[in-house]
Order: sequence, then structure tokens, then C-alpha cells
Amino acid sequence: MLRTHNCGELRIEHVGTQTTLCGWIQRRRDFGSLTFIDLRDRYGITQLSFNEEQNAEMHETARSLGREFVVAVTGNVVERSNKNDKLPTGDIEIEVTELKVLNEALVPPFTIEDDTDGGEELRMKYRYIDIRRRKVRENLVLRHKLTQALRNHLSAEDFVEVETPYLIKSTPEGARDFVVPSRLNEGQFYALPQSPQTFKQLLMVSGMDRYFQIVKCFRDEDFRADRQPEFTQIDCEMSFVERDDVLSTFEGLIRKVFTKTKNIDLGEIPILTYQEAMDRFGSDKPDMRFGMEFCHINDVAQGEGFGIFDSAELVVAINAKGGNAFTRKQIDAFTDYVKRPQIGAKGLIYCRCNDDGTYKSSVDKFFDQDALAAWAKACDAEAGDMIFVLSGNRGEVVNQMNELRLHLGTELGLRDRNEFKACWVVDFPLVEWDEDSKRFHALHHPFTSPIAEDRALMETDPGSVRANAYDMAINGMEVGGGSIRIHDKKLQSRMFELLGFSEQEAREQFGFLMNAFEYGAPPHGGIAFGLDRLAALLAGTESIRDVIAFPKNNMGRDLMIDAPAELNTQQLEDLGWDLATKKGS
Ligand code: AMO
Repeated sequence: MLRTHNCGELRIEHVGTQTTLCGWIQRRRDFGSLTFIDLRDRYGITQLSFNEEQNAEMHETARSLGREFVVAVTGNVVERSNKNDKLPTGDIEIEVTELKVLNEALVPPFTIEDDTDGGEELRMKYRYIDIRRRKVRENLVLRHKLTQALRNHLSAEDFVEVETPYLIKSTPEGARDFVVPSRLNEGQFYALPQSPQTFKQLLMVSGMDRYFQIVKCFRDEDFRADRQPEFTQIDCEMSFVERDDVLSTFEGLIRKVFTKTKNIDLGEIPILTYQEAMDRFGSDKPDMRFGMEFCHINDVAQGEGFGIFDSAELVVAINAKGGNAFTRKQIDAFTDYVKRPQIGAKGLIYCRCNDDGTYKSSVDKFFDQDALAAWAKACDAEAGDMIFVLSGNRGEVVNQMNELRLHLGTELGLRDRNEFKACWVVDFPLVEWDEDSKRFHALHHPFTSPIAEDRALMETDPGSVRANAYDMAINGMEVGGGSIRIHDKKLQSRMFELLGFSEQEAREQFGFLMNAFEYGAPPHGGIAFGLDRLAALLAGTESIRDVIAFPKNNMGRDLMIDAPAELNTQQLEDLGWDLATKKGS
């Protein structure tokens, strides 16, 4: 070992010990004959002191050291006269007797501080330097603890980690595949898995009973803060189970990782049906940290001569408790917020519940005090509150109100990152109609089982069939999703038919799975959690990039290694590509 201790471990009780430390130079401060250096490694920062009177030559060398030089020092641990209670090692410093420069360093392109001066793109280009920053490093350590807790818990519950291949055929998960050309099979391609879905089902047919895998998945999707083209799932599957067995098993898992990594008890996780989640929160991943639930006020708002409400399919309100204090300017800002093209509301109607028990709305011309009192009653609003109303086509209004609810929650400080509220959402629709392709698409994937009592409707009213599928959301983020699978060949054929696959297409794409189902498939179901999303939640950060060591930017580029990139001529020739057009054969 080049060192005896690390930079985070020396304390007052080590005074008098000789130590050798290695690390990077965080900061240097020169005071004439005295020079202080903060030495940093993964574990912390320790102050070094160099005294010209004791060793002039070494003091001179110390004064020449730049930021991020790599050094080894030997010296004595002494008590500091000027203690720093912000550093765990702040009671001591090292009086250096030997200094070795292990490597020089260029001036880093941004400061290695919590609040760095480097923009995101620059930090991604120099990600190896960014990881030297405490916040980024801590996120990676947290992610490690999370995977460790997950592995331990699942292993203790008899789940076996099995690796499945990365070079496969397309999985029908709904996103675009990343594809890899095959040299040995010219003109043919592998697809990178969007998830190991079909493999884990095959493992159930194999009798593995309980499978898990912490696994990379690849989806060629558009960018969002909670999406990366390659991301990691905690992918799980179990045999001989029903929905509630899966929910309780994985509720146990998630509660365990929260206690292990954050010492937080998530408590029992409530179950909402999809319909209930949409009716109460306008979202299938509701943020349960705060109320402000939807109030459907068609009954009291329509028929008073206000055309916009009268012609609307849905009039929905929310009560911002204590929102009477919102200024006109704030209300205008909320209105602008919902009118942004991404949200698309035409306007926002409000009603103040004044302290004196009267009401003041933006539609007073149409609604008298009694009518507004009826709104307030429907929304459980009282003096001091503010009611916001949106109306229009059901699908659109529900989305718009969901956005407004989340925005108001943020503005009112109701979305504390240190508070965690989870929920299950169950009974999703099995399929949704796609206007472009004029056919039904599986909302989850084609292997999801329809709920038994709805199966009779698969041919007559597919849109109303509920799936035996479930998602888990925490703080408004979808962290996991899964389903009880179809294990019966006939039901699977009906499902393919409903999705518009001919018998032959189904055979071509999923013949292997259909064949496997001929050899004794057990009833089975499972779930996959997004590891990056869980880690981001636990780290209290918005973007999953913050918890990925080497993430991609919003164009799917790795700025550090500069990928994707063109191939050289030889590589293209090997793949049988036409060099003139750079197109595949
Ligand atoms: P699903 O597509 O819902 O289900 O994915 C499961 C979970 O993976 C996470 N996730 C992502 N995280 C980061 N970037 C992405 N692009 C991304 N896409 C998904 C989410 C999501 O909840 N095979 C099924 C699971 C099953 O049925 O068992 C599946 O992949 O947290």
C-alpha cells in the first residue's frame, strides 16, 4: 500500500501517529513561511501543513503544486490550532516530513466543488473529473448501497440472479430497438433488449421459480430527465403467484431498501386502481405527498349560462389550501403555465375564498355568491383557500389539471424531496387504440394477462378490458411496473389476435415463447424496477443522469468518448455495407 490512512479517517485520537496519505490537491493556501494544502480522496479531506523553517526545499515544492496534482505525503498527525468543525478531520492536520509528487495535472476545466462553475455538457465531457466532486461520488456510493441491499434481500428471498443475453431479437416493449448488425449473417441484425421480458418468462417455464437480474436495458426513446437510452432494471419474475403475492413481495423489497439506504420506513403502500388514480389525481403515477385532489364539479358548474363550462365534457377543480394569499401576478403566472403549448389549456378559472366568507372569482359575471358557495362545498374549500378550475375534453383536461396540481404542489412547498410516498396503481387498461396504425396496442406488453372477469370482452369491447398489471410510483415517479402473465397458449393467441398479429406474424416474432408454453408453463408474474429512478429519488435529484457514472446527453451522445461515431472502412466492409452509400446490403 502506498498509504497508511485515507483522507477521511484521521481524528484527534490519532495525534502523535505517523501517517502516509495519498490524494489530489483540492486547495493550497500560502501564508509566507507557512503553506496549507487540502488533500482529497474518496473518503474526505485532510489538511497538510508545510513550514519553510523546518524544510525550505519541501516548502518550495509544496508552493509549486497545482490543483489536482496527485501526491503522497508522510508526516505527523498534530492537533490544529485553528479547528474546522465543518470537516470530520477538522481537529487535526499533518505536519509533512516527506512529499512525493506522484503525478502532475492540468488545471481542471471546472472547480471540484459542490457548487462548481462547470456547465452540464462540460462536466459530461470530463465526467472522470466530475466524479471527483463529493455530490457525484456520493450518488455513486448510494447507488452501490442500493444494489447491494436489493441483491441481499432478493437472494435471501430465494431469488436467483440469472444473466440473459444482450444480443437478441426485438422485444415488443413499445419503444424503438437499438440494433447491432451481424458480420456472420450479412444483412441481419440483433436487437439490444428493451428488457429481458421473454427470457424471464422462459426461465419460469424452466422451473427457476424465482428470478432476478440487475440488468442493462436499451430503448431508443426521446429524451426526458427520467429516461436514458441505456438504463438499469431490477428485473424480477416469480412462479405460482397471483397479483397480491407479487405486490407484497416487492413492497417488502422496496420498504427494505428505503430502510437500508435512508433509514426511512415507507409504511404500508396503498393500492389505487388506475381509474381511481385518474379520477383523483389525473395521473397513473400520482404524487401522494400532498392532497389537492380533483373535484369533479360538472353538477354545480354547468347550467349557469357560462358557455365554456356548459359545452365541456369535464369541469374539474382543485382546492389550493391557503391559496387565497396568491397575488394576481402569481395567478397570472399559473395561467401562463397551463397555457404553455406543452400543457395546452385555453385558460384558468379561479375562485378566491375570502377571509370574510365571500367569494371572488374570475367568472363573477356568470356565477353569483350562492353558485360559488356550491363550488366551494364541492371542493371542501373554506375561507382562505383558492379554487382553480379547468374544463374541456376529458382526456386533455385531466392531463392539464395534473400538471397544474404538480406545479402548485411545488410552488406551495408540498413536494419535499426528503419525504417519500409510494403507491401501487393496478387494473390498467389492457390495450389502447392507436389512431395512426388503426389498431390496438398493448399498454404494457402482449404477455400481460387480462383480468379474468373481463376476458369475455376481449373480442367485443377490448378497450374496456382491464389488465392484471401494476405499477409502483414514488413521489409521482413511475419506479416499477409489471404484470401477471398469460401462461395459456389459447389466451395468448387471443391476445395476439386482438393486437392485430396474424397467426404467422405471431409465430415469426414469438414462436419460441409460444412453443415453450406447449411444454408446461406455470402461472407466473413479475415486475421490473428502474434502478436509476430509485437511485435518483433516494439521492434527492431530479435527473437520473446524476446517479449514472457515465450518462448520455439529450441527443443520446456520450460526450466523453464521443459516441456514437462512424465506423472505419474495414469495419463497414466486414459488415457488408456499401461503402459508397454507407448503407447496409
Ligand atoms: P417497463 O417498461 O414499465 O416494464 O419498465 C420498468 C421500469 O423501468 C424503468 N424505465 C426506465 N428508466 C430509465 N430510462 C428509461 N428509458 C426507462 N424505461 C423504463 C421505469 C419502469 O417502471 N418488462 C417489463 C417489466 C415486467 O413486466 O416485468 C418492463 O420493462 O422505472
